[in-house]
Amino acid sequence: MAWVNGGPATTLASEDRGLLYGDGLFETIAIRQGQPCLWRAHLERLAAGAARLGIPMPPIAQWRAETAAMLAAAGVPASATLKLVLTRGTGARGYAPPAAPCPTRLLLLYPDGPQRPWLRSWEQDGVLVRHCRTRLGINPSLAGLKHLNRLEQVLARAEWPPPGEAPVATRVAEGLMLDAWGNLVCGTMTNLFLVDADGGVRTSDLAHCGVAGTVRDLVLRCADQLGMPVQCCRLRPSALGRARGAFLTNALIGLWPVRRIDDLNLDPQALPPVLAARIRQACFTPEPDW
Ligand SMILES: Cc1ncc(COP(=O)(O)O)c(C=O)c1O
Repeated sequence: MAWVNGGPATTLASEDRGLLYGDGLFETIAIRQGQPCLWRAHLERLAAGAARLGIPMPPIAQWRAETAAMLAAAGVPASATLKLVLTRGTGARGYAPPAAPCPTRLLLLYPDGPQRPWLRSWEQDGVLVRHCRTRLGINPSLAGLKHLNRLEQVLARAEWPPPGEAPVATRVAEGLMLDAWGNLVCGTMTNLFLVDADGGVRTSDLAHCGVAGTVRDLVLRCADQLGMPVQCCRLRPSALGRARGAFLTNALIGLWPVRRIDDLNLDPQALPPVLAARIRQACFTPEPDW
């Protein structure tokens, strides 16, 4: 189901700058019991991204009203995925942004299909991960943003078969990406955390590329509260060889422990269970007053 600027629609203006230049931002949100999860975090990131790109941010009350109306029209799905897209709207030919942009709001709702039984084992026993050849470009002006330019992720994800084409036991869940300088940054659709032998947790500082995930932020805050602060730093690939464990996060999966990266075995139980439980609960419990 798709809504554009407040109502059902299946088409966008052919001159929308989101389409022509990737001039926009998006959020991918888990829906549980007919309500969005981590709503505030997603809308805060969208607003911060819009401010950085100079795109006027529609009021949060408007996003909320349209989301609620769309969810109601879809029969209040128990479990679904909602995508919010904000673009700079249409403009004249050329890169120059219009002086008075009229942004486009696009809402996409995808009902969840039948339960995929292996997902439970991925959560408990960990996932298989591989390295991608495609590198992330260095660009501090875009680092952290969830902008619409995702060709690096598209190329990286094309390096291994789509889900369903490999037997479950050998199915690769995610690919790790290095930046152009060779630093380890993230997965194609996730943020990456390493758990060191002494229990310390580290993640990439995202100063030059990568998306500042809503769940990454949640991990940083929860870990702080539990007295196990996460270090945000430059990660060299050699850090993997010294790590006891690793885990991946995003708003749809919550948290996946990693059990193997190519030929490297890791301990999927390396992450303290109290932290894992707190993250999963926060990821999939809708905020009552969203
Ligand atoms: C490239 C990339 N990095 C990180 C993330 C994690 O972001 P979030 O935790 O907000 O889902 C995503 C989510 O889709 C992503 O596409």
